[in-house]
Amino acid sequence: MLLKVQDIETYYGSAQALKGVSLEVEKGELISLLGANGAGKTTLLRTISGLIEPKRGTIEFEGQRIDRLGAEEIVRLGISHCPEGRKLFPQMTVFKNLALGAYVRKDDQRGIEETREEIFRRPGRKSSAFSRFSKTGKGSWPGR
Ligand SMILES: Nc1ncnc2c1ncn2[C@@H]1O[C@H](COP(=O)(O)OP(=O)(O)OP(=O)(O)O)[C@@H](O)[C@H]1O
Ligand SMILES: [Mg+2]
Repeated sequence: MLLKVQDIETYYGSAQALKGVSLEVEKGELISLLGANGAGKTTLLRTISGLIEPKRGTIEFEGQRIDRLGAEEIVRLGISHCPEGRKLFPQMTVFKNLALGAYVRKDDQRGIEETREEIFRRPGRKSSAFSRFSKTGKGSWPGR
């Protein structure tokens, strides 16, 4: 089992957002999590990523408990969280934002360079690798 989430309960202050959530992901599986607005999808992902600590339940990644680890340790194990809304770092260059996105591929320098070249070949790109994003973080993303 790649990821095993068992009976997770997560709170925002005294408000309970997740009530006994369990799911399993096998290696090579692609899982979609569906639910109404406010159902708790983002909260579950934030809990798995270590951005919020669950009050109860366990999360295992490749057999290792991760539910009490910090986000920086979890990302090193290979779990990446790509947040909605293209949350970028507008004060950093495009190049640096891409490098940050490749953080967990540290041992694949060649692959990182290939991906970067592929991104900069995309049509419609408005920025150079060393330009910064616009203030909104939009408008100059490669390929848009
Ligand atoms: N920062 C927060 N503080 C307090 N309550 C929150 C916070 N973020 C989310 N909630 C509450 O937790 C519950 C789950 O919200 P969550 O954002 O995880 O839902 P979601 O399934 O991702 O919704 P959406 O489809 O709108 O993205 C909701 O009741 C929401 O109001
Ligand atoms: Mg959400």
